[in-house]
Amino acid sequence: MSILSGKNILLGISGGIAAYKTASLVRLFVKLGANVKVVMTPSSKDFITPLTLSTLSKNPVHSSFTNDEDDNAIWNNHVDLALWANIFVIAPATANTLSKMAHGVCDNFLLATYLSAKCPVYFAPAMDLDMYKHESTLHSFNALKSYNNVMIPAESGELASGLVGEGRMAEPETIVSFIENDILEKLPLKGKKVLITAGPTYEAIDPVRFIGNHSSGKMGFEIAKASANLGAEVILITGPTHQKVTHSLIHVIPVISASDMYKAAHEYFETADVAILSAAVADYKPKEVALQKIKKKDPTLTLELEKTKDILASLGAIKTNQFLVGFALETNNELENAKDKLKRKNLNLIVLNSLNDTGAGFKSDTNKVTFIDAEDTVTEFQLKSKTDVAIDLLNKILEHINA
Ligand code: CTP
Repeated sequence: MSILSGKNILLGISGGIAAYKTASLVRLFVKLGANVKVVMTPSSKDFITPLTLSTLSKNPVHSSFTNDEDDNAIWNNHVDLALWANIFVIAPATANTLSKMAHGVCDNFLLATYLSAKCPVYFAPAMDLDMYKHESTLHSFNALKSYNNVMIPAESGELASGLVGEGRMAEPETIVSFIENDILEKLPLKGKKVLITAGPTYEAIDPVRFIGNHSSGKMGFEIAKASANLGAEVILITGPTHQKVTHSLIHVIPVISASDMYKAAHEYFETADVAILSAAVADYKPKEVALQKIKKKDPTLTLELEKTKDILASLGAIKTNQFLVGFALETNNELENAKDKLKRKNLNLIVLNSLNDTGAGFKSDTNKVTFIDAEDTVTEFQLKSKTDVAIDLLNKILEHINA
């Protein structure tokens, strides 16, 4: 899935011959699942029609401050449009439009929208080779870069003038991959490794029976997705669940028992930057595993159980720079117990969920959590989807590791 999927992309088109290529650009954005709206400078309409672009983007196209077809002129709100955008792409960006953007000139709808935008702005220059090299144009590029706008460099080739050189707008495919790569490079967890445990563990009694629990694994999988969406490389160690995930940054390691999970977690912990242990690990396992299926010959059966190794505590004991997060499911003295667990297991953060809250816990799609950090700061949240809880958790972790 492209990082552009679901994003609101505003495309600003200024008046150069390369404007004809924006039909393909809109199609590519739409194909990747982005929502696309288009604003045009008046002169760009000589090169491509608003009808083509509104048809491809499935949205109205604006090029003036009002819809002045009749006497009841309607104001086109450039501020709303700019704030709607997650990404603003100006392509082609002519020397004229770039210079106006650099100087805050606001004499058309595209420029007013540009000045209102708070999102990342990309511009793809298109002009003749001498214009592209002109000192005045270089001033515009530098000014825009100093405003944190990102330039998608022009390419070399045959130009509208018949001359050959640098100045052709980057091809639509190049613009799309440039933006995708730029966003991926700037993700806050880019280059970080996140280790996650999820789901239940199954502790064998005999070849066909086990001791397990009702954990769905959903919380851990949501945390894995949220981490990967922020650019992290994720190792997801999961007990048996029905959850599925396909993401190029998520490496799933299926395990069965607490001792399998312990081994896998220790294998990956050393190189991890963050470890989030959300699995519902069995606290006890049968002391002996019967080699053959146990027959029901006796009226009662006693199983002797022994403690499993506490994975979280064992990682807390050896942690160096890793940011270690544990979960606590409590029924009484919740805050006190969670704080105690945080200290005992040497954690940086603990996520408390209480079985007293309806909608929280094992099987549901929602959770109600409280975060407690090692400095004793307590942050309480309302009942939310597990997807949103995962995003809150990652934001809290980012706050800490960036502090
Ligand atoms: N955990 C673990 N390995 C275990 C048991 C628990 O890694 N063998 C982790 C869980 O993934 C969770 C945290 O420890 O992040 C809390 O587990 P919990 O069972 O609630 O805590 P305990 O310390 O076992 O305390 P108690 O059973 O007394 O509540």
